[in-house]
Amino acid sequence: MARLQLAGSRRLVPLPRRAPRLAPLLLPLLLALPDGARADCPCKVPALCRPITHRPDFEVFVFDVGHKTWKHYDWSQITTVVLFSNYDPELMCHAHAKGARAVLRGDVSVKDIINATFRASWIAQQVKLAKTQYLDGINLDIEQDVAHSSPEYYALTALVKETTDSFHREIEGSQVTFDVPWGPNCVGARCYNYTGIADACDFLFVMSYDERCLACSQCIAGANSPYIQTLTGYDDFIKIGINPKKLVMGIPWYGYDYTCQNLSVDHVCTTAKYACRDAVHRQVTYQTIMKQVNSSTSGRLWDKNQQSPYYHYKDQAGHFHQVWYDDAQSISLKASYVQKHGLLGIGMWHANCLDYSGDAIAKQQTKEMWKALKPNLLQRGEK
Ligand SMILES: *[C@@H]1O[C@H](CO)[C@@H](O)[C@H](O)[C@H]1NC(C)=O
Ligand SMILES: *[C@@H]1O[C@H](CO)[C@@H](O)[C@H](O)[C@H]1NC(C)=O
Ligand SMILES: *[C@@H]1O[C@H](CO)[C@@H](O)[C@H](O)[C@H]1NC(C)=O
Ligand SMILES: *[C@@H]1O[C@H](CO)[C@@H](O)[C@H](O)[C@H]1NC(C)=O
Repeated sequence: MARLQLAGSRRLVPLPRRAPRLAPLLLPLLLALPDGARADCPCKVPALCRPITHRPDFEVFVFDVGHKTWKHYDWSQITTVVLFSNYDPELMCHAHAKGARAVLRGDVSVKDIINATFRASWIAQQVKLAKTQYLDGINLDIEQDVAHSSPEYYALTALVKETTDSFHREIEGSQVTFDVPWGPNCVGARCYNYTGIADACDFLFVMSYDERCLACSQCIAGANSPYIQTLTGYDDFIKIGINPKKLVMGIPWYGYDYTCQNLSVDHVCTTAKYACRDAVHRQVTYQTIMKQVNSSTSGRLWDKNQQSPYYHYKDQAGHFHQVWYDDAQSISLKASYVQKHGLLGIGMWHANCLDYSGDAIAKQQTKEMWKALKPNLLQRGEK
């Protein structure tokens, strides 16, 4: 997802096998279990192991990276949760109890999938894992460079098609989605067959973040998800023929902290010219930002061109930093496009970024961030 965070993320582990302690007792029960529910179902109510088959009109697509903060998410909105980190059976049961899908995360080397035999066995493994864990599909997060018309280009479209066919055949009502960068024009060296991939799966999750290319911006800090650039990305996906109903807008619940080499009076933060990349900026979660913004040297500032909040602070070594992020205001501006252009839904990377501690101010901020996903509903409610 947000590329820089991938390195440390842990691999999925299958559900540990449970000892069949109550086997004799369970036997009569097993016969009475509804379709799709098996004896090793980890949920209190066995029916919760059945796949979700309902197709919502509007998707709220959530990435979860672990821990237990999911208990505090706004489940009145969530339709799909991607179990991006370790498998958590409790989260699967909870999602199903709320009528939401819980899906696997899939990643595979694009070099390997040129081999059709390898592809088929990889897909079979994913279907098997999803069935074992009672999951409702897979989110393909393959953020790798692909050259136009290369063997990988064709293999990737084939992978998506074959994965969708297998999942739909093997798991009733299942969902197969694919993560794409903020625009279709070879963004991040990802020259994919976007129309082919959109046709081949249920929908695309558009990662409208990490949009700042420092080197192409003369090493000047800027917004993670600037308004015009973000919406132009969606216009471009629609222009090449992708149905808006195949697009889910992905917004960031994190920002970037840039170390400035020079900070001008008109707030231009110039980063180091060399290594004008990862070394000078790092990702920060919304909750960390909220703990810092009020005590920062500038307080919250608003950039009218990029429609984004930002602020400055000075670190202990005396270096200035500029932090660019998204909050309820910048998100609801982008989210208005979803309704206006009839996109399928909205989601975020990632849900764990908010403060779920229960502290009164944090609680209000967290609530506003969830609310900002559906700004038009909010307006209607206020009228
Ligand atoms: C293709 O993949 C299969 C299964 O992983 C493997 O056995 C086979 O050797 C591969 N073929 C090539 C040409 O690499
Ligand atoms: C994209 O994929 C579709 C489906 O496989 C195919 O029909 C189409 O020709 C491909 N487009 C390009 C430009 O490769
Ligand atoms: C750094 O910022 C100061 C204050 O705005 C400005 O006077 C100066 O020209 C800048 N230096 C460089 C190297 O950009
Ligand atoms: C920061 O300031 C804003 C605006 O004045 C206020 O609403 C918010 O509660 C403050 N946050 C904290 C953590 O004090």
